[in-house]
Amino acid sequence: MKVTFYGIGYVGLVQATVFADAGHDVCCVDIDETRIENLKKGIIPIYEPGLTPLVEKNFAEGRLTFTTDAQFGVEFGELQFIAVGTPPDEDGSADLKYVLKVAETIATYMQKPKVIIDKSTVPVGTADKVKATIQSTLNERKSDLTFSVVSNPEFLKEGAAVNDCKRPDRIIIGTDSADAEEQMRELYAPFNRNHEKIIVMDIKSAELTKYAANCMLATKISFMNEMANIAERVGADIEHVRHGIGSDPRIGYQFIYPGCGYGGSCFPKDVQALVRTTDGIGYESKILKAVEAVNYAQKHKLFEYITNHYGLEKNPDAIKGKTFALWGLSFKPNTDDMREAPSRVLMEQLWKAGAKVQAYDPEAMEETQRIYGARNDLNFMGTKESALNNADALIICTEWQNFKAPDFSLMKSLLTTPVIFDGRNLFEPRRLKNKGFSYYSIGRNI
Ligand code: UGA
Repeated sequence: MKVTFYGIGYVGLVQATVFADAGHDVCCVDIDETRIENLKKGIIPIYEPGLTPLVEKNFAEGRLTFTTDAQFGVEFGELQFIAVGTPPDEDGSADLKYVLKVAETIATYMQKPKVIIDKSTVPVGTADKVKATIQSTLNERKSDLTFSVVSNPEFLKEGAAVNDCKRPDRIIIGTDSADAEEQMRELYAPFNRNHEKIIVMDIKSAELTKYAANCMLATKISFMNEMANIAERVGADIEHVRHGIGSDPRIGYQFIYPGCGYGGSCFPKDVQALVRTTDGIGYESKILKAVEAVNYAQKHKLFEYITNHYGLEKNPDAIKGKTFALWGLSFKPNTDDMREAPSRVLMEQLWKAGAKVQAYDPEAMEETQRIYGARNDLNFMGTKESALNNADALIICTEWQNFKAPDFSLMKSLLTTPVIFDGRNLFEPRRLKNKGFSYYSIGRNI
């Protein structure tokens, strides 16, 4: 099939490439000329395992094209995917100006009936706005062309996006048109082989499904972080509790890892956006507001341990001039994404208190440098060991695989004092204590 994608960011690029790899002809349109030129040269704007060779292969074989020419894109695809960003407004609601601009562009140039698909995460009711925008532009053109709008949210995880796209566990299609449904079924046929993964529903339910999924996952995390705070105070170990409750299949082991807070471009934004939606419909979401509040507090958790360890309450200068090694900057492993990363909250608190950071991250150091620029209280180190050199303590914010089995005696010899603040519960507290470390982790400082 012939498919056009508008917005070659994270979601657009991954999904477009995976469709091309399955044999569809995909045209990618973006207004950012540098991005398009780079993509043609195989320079990918994001770090995502497995994506670069897939883009190169499908581009070389001619199934994947890149352009800034929107008119060409409109003529190209029978299916038109909107995958542009929906950044949060000042009040936290999703800003639809880019989505509606694409809708207007499609309506301006279309010469044949089209199916327009919302792939971006958009609030309930957006498909209606897209429809209205297209219709009014067609009316201005005095055109009686027909079109349908479909909601087809994505559920891919950063760091595993290619795999998630190739092997989706569900394909949600929100539509009120039998023809559009058939076209979407044909498009997704290569991904719907082993068992039925396509779930068809009305448009608003599809739009809400996306938010409900992310908000449920964020709720699980904040719930566990709250349990960790309780565990800490009653002298229990949250890791035992996690194991204990996860063994109940109704609860399950996934997404119940306590930590220093969830980040990324999705959970914080989507929880906020759904809260704003409920505000607008006269309903107060008590759960989602609590999920947000717990996460905000959790991102300050590591600094709370630091405050207690160094007695910052009594002496605000207690860590002035001290150096902290920081392992992990990105909001989670296998990405260079720093959006809403807990490490940012922590570093900003450390700097405010006059401390220095020696950071190591396998992928996100460049991005962190881009965000904070050159500053003398932030140094990037080439290895996780060199980050420890002469540091007063180690802080862990991201659970990269190669942080999990370090050489503890080497660590002890490199750090000036053997202190670890672990936001991801990577180690066994008793073992670390036996090795002579002061070890702080989430929900188990018993
Ligand atoms: C999330 C969802 O998992 C995807 O299904 C969804 O498609 C995507 O948002 C989206 O809306 O586009 P992502 O933001 O890539 O994906 O990241 P996750 O792997 O879900 O992790 C989110 C955050 O939760 C991370 O900061 C992670 O460290 C934290 N987390 C996750 C925990 O603190 N504990 C857990 O048990 C799991």
